[in-house]
Amino acid sequence: MQEQVDVSDEQIEKAVALLRAGKLVAFPTETVYGLGADASNVSAIRKVFAAKQRPADHPLIVHLAETAGLKHWASVVPREAWLLAEAFWPGPLTMVLPRAAHVPGELTGGQSTIALRVPSHPVAHRLLLAFGGAIAAPSANRFGRLSPTSAAHVREELGDAVDYILDGGDCPVGIESTIVAFRNSSAVILRPGKITAEQIAETLQSEVVPPLASSPRVSGTLPSHYAPRTPLRVVEPEALESMLRREASQRPVAVLARRGRPSNTRAALWQVAPQTPEEYAHHLYSLLRRMDSAGCELIIAEAVPDLPEWVAIRDRLMRASAEDVEAPSIATGT
Ligand code: TXA
Ligand code: MG
Repeated sequence: MQEQVDVSDEQIEKAVALLRAGKLVAFPTETVYGLGADASNVSAIRKVFAAKQRPADHPLIVHLAETAGLKHWASVVPREAWLLAEAFWPGPLTMVLPRAAHVPGELTGGQSTIALRVPSHPVAHRLLLAFGGAIAAPSANRFGRLSPTSAAHVREELGDAVDYILDGGDCPVGIESTIVAFRNSSAVILRPGKITAEQIAETLQSEVVPPLASSPRVSGTLPSHYAPRTPLRVVEPEALESMLRREASQRPVAVLARRGRPSNTRAALWQVAPQTPEEYAHHLYSLLRRMDSAGCELIIAEAVPDLPEWVAIRDRLMRASAEDVEAPSIATGT
């Protein structure tokens, strides 16, 4: 893997010129790579949906250089949103707020709210400052696939559908941002991420409430999202051996384990996962991509601990393992 690398001023200028011309530029953020377009240009926004093959009713996240931009894009900014911005921006947090009147419906999938975030990645920040406007960017993958955490992943996912890729190396966090909405004065987590419910509750000095079944649609919360092509099953540690005995005798199986390879296993591939939640998240999607292309018929992932700092990783493993669930019309944030 290639850790964080810098980009030149010329590369930033080229990216800015392309964005101004309505083209698509992929860029690194601290979470995953984004597929960027000028958030004020409706035809550029439409290109994002086409490139991703994403349904038009799945809204994009708008990336801002500074917290002050909130006032321009949201019609109402509650006190709680300012508090979270102060605590976690720039950083891996997205806030869903009522959208300002000028916001194109194409951006928000026709919803009355808009998702906003100020990323901390130095390349994303330089790009946003130089561009001088807001950049709409979903993760730079085809709809329903794993998010890219390197420039090579973006190329693999989008090929010629993206006009330019700013290569900033591997994304440090490795999983998508925490998405927070507000109900009355309470925060609701629509998608767990590195910033935990506990951190948000502590900052707001109030409990985080669970999402309603009718919460706004978050495509990252459809059960079949973030899936590798090879079927994936998550198994509790105590059931790993018996599942392997059953499965690995019939077909090639890859294992994403939290322990070393036992001498007697029949697994075709045994990948030891990183031990800490930070390292696990950082490597998760590239490990799944690698395991996905290893020619196995099944990936078995050993479940991670049921603890607050592992919630986002449990969530992504669970979604990657949901087999062919029909794309539901639901929009639970659960
Ligand atoms: O870390 C991230 O958030 C990355 C980087 C590139 O910033 N972006 C990302 O974008 O994950 P995307 O489009 O793959 O996921 C954004 C999620 C989608 O599930 C979308 O449905 C949800 O945010 N979203 C966007 N606008 C929303 C809104 N108004 N209400 C509820 N959910 C919204
Ligand atoms: Mg995505």
